[in-house]
Amino acid sequence: MKRVDDFRLKFGKKEFVPIMVGGMGVDISTAELALEAARLGGIGHISDAMVPDVSDRRFDTSFVKDKTRFYKHNIDNSDKSIIKFDLGVLAEATQRHVAATMEAKKGDGLVFVNCMEKLTMNAPRDTLQVRMASALDAGIDGITLSAGLHLGSFALIADHPRFRDVKLGIIVSSVRALQIFLRKNARLERFPDYVIVEGPLAGGHLGFGLDWAQYDLATITAEIIAYLQVEKLNIPVIAAGGVFTGSDAVSFLETGSAAVQVATRFTVANECGLPAKVKQDYFLANEDDIEVNTISPTGYPMRMLKSTPAIGSGIRPNCESYGYLLDGSGGCAYITAYNREVVLHPDGKNISVKDKTCLCTHMRNFNCWTCGHYTYRLKDTTRQLADGTYQTLSAEHIFKDYQFSVDHQIALPN
Ligand SMILES: Cc1cc2nc3c(=O)[nH]c(=O)nc-3n(C[C@H](O)[C@H](O)[C@H](O)COP(=O)(O)O)c2cc1C
Repeated sequence: MKRVDDFRLKFGKKEFVPIMVGGMGVDISTAELALEAARLGGIGHISDAMVPDVSDRRFDTSFVKDKTRFYKHNIDNSDKSIIKFDLGVLAEATQRHVAATMEAKKGDGLVFVNCMEKLTMNAPRDTLQVRMASALDAGIDGITLSAGLHLGSFALIADHPRFRDVKLGIIVSSVRALQIFLRKNARLERFPDYVIVEGPLAGGHLGFGLDWAQYDLATITAEIIAYLQVEKLNIPVIAAGGVFTGSDAVSFLETGSAAVQVATRFTVANECGLPAKVKQDYFLANEDDIEVNTISPTGYPMRMLKSTPAIGSGIRPNCESYGYLLDGSGGCAYITAYNREVVLHPDGKNISVKDKTCLCTHMRNFNCWTCGHYTYRLKDTTRQLADGTYQTLSAEHIFKDYQFSVDHQIALPN
């Protein structure tokens, strides 16, 4: 009977334990978590979502306060289009976050950064270019592009000296998305170094509609592997979404995936950035406490706990401080929904917005409890303590459980 450790992910001549811990913004996949995956010989992700805010918390900078002060005059204006990111600040925050992480790296694994392209930041092209280039400058091992494939993203860093040596990967949820991406990027003569296939059971935003339950990861992964074989492209395929045990992972590794990307099991790791109380909510969740809804202003369905405080919250849009989802013309679906409610409730009291949420503010405050489909199984991965709470786990324990377990067994902590 095989276990994950019988397989290796190969990038050129280098070999890695075929476990990637996925990016989880905003700072849910912390540097500490990513560094553990790398130390253990796998691949960890930090996320660059809301990186000025992450920098403020990590390095005591004051990027968000400075931005808020700069745009204070606009707070009562329902039009947020004047709010722009200072590209110098964005570069500095990214460099701090990435450089400090890379300096702390030990072991044979790698640390990548997850860049969500849906963070359009009122200047999608310029901000993404700065985010990627700054991560490269600061020595990141790889960049995973996710949440909205801007077909020109690789081209944005084509002139960077590290363009051909850094690992570049994309997340797709269909063979069609991959085909389009490869066609559009052909002139760069630079293929992705890996393709993550994210199925419908993943956490965060989904690359499916509300009919997500009709799709399954094994089928999509097999289609993508077959397509790459036909095209004679030797690109490692990494399956993600609902891989809950080492045996789940082995079933993908035995059928042609080069690795798996996992996240949900690490949401209850000591090193995960979620507050302790929220980790307990994840442990307590039952299957019917989890839903896929459309409250994310990005337009992508998102999976979360139904008890998420972000649902129905009618807070004032906080774009003067954040503004990560402002599209290229300064709009955001939450602003539109919020403004509609303000018109309907001119006294400004008890505003509740049901159809969209202020994702920046709620993710920043850990009040949007996005999670994977199998979150309801987390309670089976640990022990309940005398006070009724569940014991959080070390990332090492979870990683090694994936690496060495057989028979769908899950090792409980000591
Ligand atoms: C709490 C949470 C937050 C996530 N945030 C992101 C994100 O910011 N960007 C992204 O590309 N994927 C995100 N994901 C998806 C994961 O990186 C990963 O691909 C997926 O969840 C793997 O499936 P699993 O959670 O069933 O193991 C998130 C997942 C979770 C559970």
